[in-house]
Amino acid sequence: MTDRAVLAVHHLAAAFDTEAGRIRAVDDVSFQVHRRKTLGIVGESGCGKSVTALSIMRLLPQPAGKILDGRILYQGTDIVQLPPEEMRLLRGRHISMIFQEPMTALNPVQRIGRQIGEVFELHDGALDETDVCNKSIEILARVGIPDPERRIREYSHQISGGMRQRVMIAMALAVQPDILIADEPTTALDVTIQAQILDLMKQLQQENNMAMIFITHDLGVIADICDDVVVMYAGTVVESAPVRDLFENPRHPYTRGLLESVPRLETPGKTLLPIIHGMVPALNDLPPGCRFQNRCPIAIPVCKSSAPALTSVGNQHEARCYLD
Ligand SMILES: Nc1ncnc2c1ncn2[C@@H]1O[C@H](COP(=O)(O)OP(=O)(O)O)[C@@H](O)[C@H]1O
Ligand SMILES: [Mg+2]
Repeated sequence: MTDRAVLAVHHLAAAFDTEAGRIRAVDDVSFQVHRRKTLGIVGESGCGKSVTALSIMRLLPQPAGKILDGRILYQGTDIVQLPPEEMRLLRGRHISMIFQEPMTALNPVQRIGRQIGEVFELHDGALDETDVCNKSIEILARVGIPDPERRIREYSHQISGGMRQRVMIAMALAVQPDILIADEPTTALDVTIQAQILDLMKQLQQENNMAMIFITHDLGVIADICDDVVVMYAGTVVESAPVRDLFENPRHPYTRGLLESVPRLETPGKTLLPIIHGMVPALNDLPPGCRFQNRCPIAIPVCKSSAPALTSVGNQHEARCYLD
């Protein structure tokens, strides 16, 4: 593909300074996202998916969180160095995020209509009250919320989890962003509503030409919605590839383990098999060498002493493993 990436992350490293010392939550994370395309970020809980997203938004929890290294290029401009005010404008107009916790992201004491209205006002200061109200109703209808005229007067605790998630999507889309980051937007929802919301997001993406970063620990969702995938393990990227290549020809032993853990269609309802034994290493006490070595079924001596680099293993396909 020749068109330039809307967003390109190069060698991002981010950390939290805590009483237990520095936790390198994200290390050497790189990827690109293109217009109308969806990049999936997949990996177990705690592997650094949300920290990657919050770094792009420059919303790491303060004062502990900081970007240590790397570049985040939005349309070619490095936003790591952007002054806070410019970053705020970027978030209001170009990059938006659906947060993992809708209850914490929505304001409990403000009516839903007002919260969406504020996004429109930030985007276009010339809008009057009636415009803002009409636009809020329109976008709620767009994300499939019935009776939006009534909903805008309600508070977040008055609506169901599925509806709250739709309100979050509506707020993120009110920005008309070039890039939408969705952090596990459907994890808390039941399967039917999850499927509806994924369909809706795909549809809105095509209509608005958005680039999307879709964060999940669910490989089924990745297969359903993504063009490209980044697999993260213990804060770093272990493999990245177009989605079909990843499923057909996984190269990193961790990715293979993840794929084998996916429940098979022929055994519905069965829990995930513990294919990958052992524990993820602590991020403030990482072993020398490969981060996956203690769980890897094929590790060789060099894996214990020196960390492999992410290297090309095929067309747009990279893996961080000596044995590829
Ligand atoms: N506020 C915080 N303070 C200290 N460490 C944190 C904080 N948030 C996240 N971390 C560390 O960063 C790691 C990655 O977290 P996160 O990106 O939220 O994981 P996930 O992949 O589940 O989204 C965690 O394992 C944790 O060690
Ligand atoms: Mg997370």
